[in-house]
Amino acid sequence: MFETKLLGIDENSVNTAAELIKAGEVVGIPTETVYGLGANAFDEEAVRKIFAAKGRPADNPLIVHVSDFDEISPLVTEIPALAKKCAEKFWPGPLTMIMPKSDKIPMVTSGGLDTVGIRMPSNKIARAIIKASGCPIAAPSANLSGSPSPTTAQHVFADMNGRIPAIVDGGACGVGVESTVISFEGDGIRLLRPGFVSVEDLKEITENVLVDKGVLEMLGEGAKVMSPGMKYKHYAPKADVTIIDGSSHEFNAFIKANADAEDVVMHFTDNDVSGLSQRRICLGATDEEQAQRLFDALRELDEMGAKTVYARCPRKTGVGLAVYNRLLRAAAFRVIKL
Ligand code: TXA
Ligand code: MG
Repeated sequence: MFETKLLGIDENSVNTAAELIKAGEVVGIPTETVYGLGANAFDEEAVRKIFAAKGRPADNPLIVHVSDFDEISPLVTEIPALAKKCAEKFWPGPLTMIMPKSDKIPMVTSGGLDTVGIRMPSNKIARAIIKASGCPIAAPSANLSGSPSPTTAQHVFADMNGRIPAIVDGGACGVGVESTVISFEGDGIRLLRPGFVSVEDLKEITENVLVDKGVLEMLGEGAKVMSPGMKYKHYAPKADVTIIDGSSHEFNAFIKANADAEDVVMHFTDNDVSGLSQRRICLGATDEEQAQRLFDALRELDEMGAKTVYARCPRKTGVGLAVYNRLLRAAAFRVIKL
């Protein structure tokens, strides 16, 4: 058991976090996407502590975070040409690229795979901590396995109090959903997890972008899983969430006809809820606002004691695809198409 410290953002907390990481401990760190649980990616014992703190299955690989492009060559056996192009365009930023791993990355870190996901965060505190630690940092989202990813230090504290020595409080995450995860196949890109770097953005690198089946479909028993994280239950609030796919007007009419007084409505605009009396959470009108608000909203549903939730369906393009992908999992893939 630790007495988990919340560290404010200053040079001292960057150093404190780096000292803990050098000593083989796990620290909660802010990034532009969501908070991460960071430890030395080379240190098997330290990485085991991450899995223990999260209650994460050992076959779900961790993303390795670097502060500079030059740090990746020792971690991989090959840097695909497309990866270089993507790094130039999207790094530092919310993009994780899967590459063949070198022996320097322990199997514990890669969840037993011979590949490793690498990302260079744009968050300056995150990069300062990586630099000061002097090692690449393995970091999954800093939630308990199955819970919504944390977008504030308080979310991390709620899940990790007593499990890790410290959390660096960098304020609310700007992006709010985890990084886009891609792998490379021949001269193409496979999208494994949508994020702020959208399919449309990736198509500026190559037209050959394939959206993996697991992004929008529930993977059947025994299906070949390209990204192990996609097979686990995710982001699930205690309530039963149903996604209602229709226009603002159709959504409003559906709620009027079907929702009970104690149900909760998750919506985007005032129009969605005009004339409704149900409790509500507003995610905002744009894809970006919805991404930024979603995980906090899922935690809020639990605090409200919500039992049945009707959520308006996000757009399936741009950053909206990332919001839809997360909400689908929170809703256990229940969608009503109007
Ligand atoms: O934005 C993010 O990516 C955050 C912050 C902290 O950087 N991290 C994050 O990590 O979301 P995590 O562990 O919660 O999600 C990583 C996802 C999982 O679905 C995992 O299965 C997949 O990336 N992944 C990691 N390494 C992989 C690999 N070598 N091959 C396939 N999928 C991989
Ligand atoms: Mg996660």
